[in-house]
Amino acid sequence: MQFSSRMDRFGDEIFGALNEKKLELEAQGKKIYNFSIGTPDFETAPHIKQALIDAAKDQDSWKYSLRDTPELLGAVCSYYKKRFDVDLEPDMICSCYGSQEGIGHIGLVLCDEGDTVILPTPCYPVFIAGMKMAGAEPYYYPMVKENGFLPDVSSIPEEVAKKAKLMIVSLPSNPTGSVGTREVYDEIIAFAKKYDILIIHDNAYSDIIFDGAVGGSFLGIPGAMDIGVEFFSLSKSFNLTGARISFLIGRKDVVAAFRKLRSQIDFGMFLPLQKAAVAALTGPTDMVKEQCAKYQERRDALCGGLRRIGWDVPDSHGSMFVWAPIPASYTSSMQFCLDLIEKTGVICTPGISFGPLGEGYVRFALVLPPEKIAEAIEAVRTSGLV
Ligand SMILES: Cc1ncc(COP(=O)(O)O)c(C=O)c1O
Repeated sequence: MQFSSRMDRFGDEIFGALNEKKLELEAQGKKIYNFSIGTPDFETAPHIKQALIDAAKDQDSWKYSLRDTPELLGAVCSYYKKRFDVDLEPDMICSCYGSQEGIGHIGLVLCDEGDTVILPTPCYPVFIAGMKMAGAEPYYYPMVKENGFLPDVSSIPEEVAKKAKLMIVSLPSNPTGSVGTREVYDEIIAFAKKYDILIIHDNAYSDIIFDGAVGGSFLGIPGAMDIGVEFFSLSKSFNLTGARISFLIGRKDVVAAFRKLRSQIDFGMFLPLQKAAVAALTGPTDMVKEQCAKYQERRDALCGGLRRIGWDVPDSHGSMFVWAPIPASYTSSMQFCLDLIEKTGVICTPGISFGPLGEGYVRFALVLPPEKIAEAIEAVRTSGLV
């Protein structure tokens, strides 16, 4: 079978070796501390589950939904007003099956083959995969220690800016745990206006932000509505990763084009999921704040604990991740991950899987409670690896 040349744009799966090692150690009964997958272990609120169950009992819920219901669009509008003080209208919103899927497809709406797009490195992998699927050519801007793991638009060459169609920004950042500042966003908006570039802001972690900072919406920054759209996911705030509920929000022309693409291939989100989303967006949100405090406890346990045993891991400022430099004796994050799992049972993700400038780091997801984190740190200490 001759597969499409499009498939050649994607690299080989690099997690195979790590997964094999994990299965092998599990079979030997070895204790595993899995920090590799960014899916929350906290409970989904009962009122969200109940809304889905109730809706599923209604036979009409099992038909094609064909559209986002007015109730759902209204719930997003009122949530954005209440949570972010951003005014939306229903035609500024389109649901998708998670930001992963939405970002995976938005390049098809915006880019022709060969168009230039500006992406962060390291970054969440679908930013690259989605744009490659559309045939766009990435220019990578560095999210590195020297610039506080934040975008610096002044480092983007003018010839790149002049031809670029869009730029993806995502803060708090997966994998680096850095958090946006007003100054950085203002610079990005001015840059986008100057060069007529669309900004796609991926806002997956507005509710997981530490040390008293408050997460917001990119669309709330003056000027952002003219040049931007935002992916707003319910996955992490509401522990709904498996339900696949997210929205593209912002500039009406972009949202309309995105909806048009989707209408070619999709008949709309399952109605019980729409009801669950309404329940999440209109219901109590105290648990979202409590959960953020728990993530911070885990961040303190992991970063503080690793520093105490001599591994100089900086505190993450937001997201559910910690970005740790690998020991100086290693040049490959993959090799370090393989040795770490073999000697300690601790699994984390090699930085190289987040793009060219991810090498030299590993990512820990804060998905284990502080007691387990302490055990994992003890295993690392006794291994002598760091
Ligand atoms: C930055 C970022 N964007 C998007 C996603 C995917 O979110 P969703 O569950 O809405 O597809 C993740 C998941 O880890 C993420 O870290």
